[in-house]
Amino acid sequence: MAMTRAHWGSRLGFVLAASGSAVGLGNLWKFPYVTWENQGGAFVLVYLAAVVLLGVPIMTAEILVGRRAQLSPVPAFEKLGGGGWSAVGWLGVAAGGVIQSYYMVIAGWSLWSFYQCAGWSLGGYTSPADGAFGEFLANAPLQLSLTATFTLATAYIVWRGIGGGIETATKIMMPLLLAILLYLLGTALLMDGRDQALRMLFLPDFSTLRASSLLEAVGQAFFSLSLGLGAMITYGSYISKEESIFRSSVAVVALDTAVALIAAVAMFTIIFSVEGLSESLSGSTVGMLFVTLPELFYTQMPGGVLLAPAFYVLVAAAALSSTISLGEVVVSLFIDRMGWTRGKATLVATGVVFLGSILAALSVGAVPALSSFELFAGKAGVLSTLDHVAANLLLPLGGLGTTVFVGWFLGREDVREELGAFGQSAVFSVWLWLVRVVAPVAITALLIAVFMGKDFS
Ligand code: TRP
Repeated sequence: MAMTRAHWGSRLGFVLAASGSAVGLGNLWKFPYVTWENQGGAFVLVYLAAVVLLGVPIMTAEILVGRRAQLSPVPAFEKLGGGGWSAVGWLGVAAGGVIQSYYMVIAGWSLWSFYQCAGWSLGGYTSPADGAFGEFLANAPLQLSLTATFTLATAYIVWRGIGGGIETATKIMMPLLLAILLYLLGTALLMDGRDQALRMLFLPDFSTLRASSLLEAVGQAFFSLSLGLGAMITYGSYISKEESIFRSSVAVVALDTAVALIAAVAMFTIIFSVEGLSESLSGSTVGMLFVTLPELFYTQMPGGVLLAPAFYVLVAAAALSSTISLGEVVVSLFIDRMGWTRGKATLVATGVVFLGSILAALSVGAVPALSSFELFAGKAGVLSTLDHVAANLLLPLGGLGTTVFVGWFLGREDVREELGAFGQSAVFSVWLWLVRVVAPVAITALLIAVFMGKDFS
């Protein structure tokens, strides 16, 4: 029976929804902090290479699988490749659940920052006491309620279905986020720390790179672009046949990368401009977005009183448009495979993911046993461990599966046809070579190097 599948309402609809999924805490929170931890320059360069050489081809490949199959990831792989390939889909769903569980915790922090900034805007800014952020992280009831609030908001939207909602929301939010970010960048670039920040970000020092930092850059690229777990397969299944998959992929990747770089330039500049901040940061780089930024809003920026709360509303919204896409991957699987109603699927998925969120929420300081163990060097606690396993192992593995599938098992003519004019162009053979050879070899080599070297940081 031919069912009419929902489609994005406009040509731009997909690009905006996919950008909504891609642009999130990965850009605003994680990119600046992992770049800081990896000492900038060389890491940024590797990240950019990963985005161009792996990000664009894999984004194209995922969307292509979704549009070809007109299904969500697990059944899409089954339909196009046969039963065994669904393993790639299942791996993705698992990774999606894991990411969602800790993503909710950090997303919750944006609600807190909003609350705090709103208070400062009304009552006047007072610089928080030393260690205030640490106390916040160790406050179990607060962490749990913020996480629960974000979880409920996500569940509500996923339960309502994303149809017109997510497209309309991203259409308003994305330009607004970009405008505020550019304003922030403009203000930051007038500050003293600018040169030091730009040097750290764009002057590569390759002596700082290890196999694990390479894998971390690749993992960050997957995470930031929402690749490797089938989110783009799901969204791609709603894209219209007229749209150019390649062009849309390039647009999403470019936008996502620009947002990450702008966020990093702004934050690094602030850090270097405020006396003593760069030294005191070493212990809590995780808090950059939530600790360092508010200070600039109130002490340095004209209009900061209004912009600070507005900015955190947008951070929360950017996070929400990402958690929705993560949630949709799991929920659409329950609907497709178990035949559950959307309500039941959302309830079960939310409940399971929240169990993971409880552990993650208590692992940033509240419960020492959950916060301090180190399975991987430098990644203490449940939240960091889950993040490391999902982003740096599961997503690259998922990406590997997708590229091998599209490059070697999907019929060449099917691929060409799905890519339209791009499938006939000269660049197509470069793309195919990246998908067939470069991406699988690079990902495999990195995973092996890191495992053989036991270089787990
Ligand atoms: N890309 C999002 C971010 O940067 C996170 C995210 C949303 C994601 N959906 C995903 C990551 C699917 C991997 C896969 O914040």
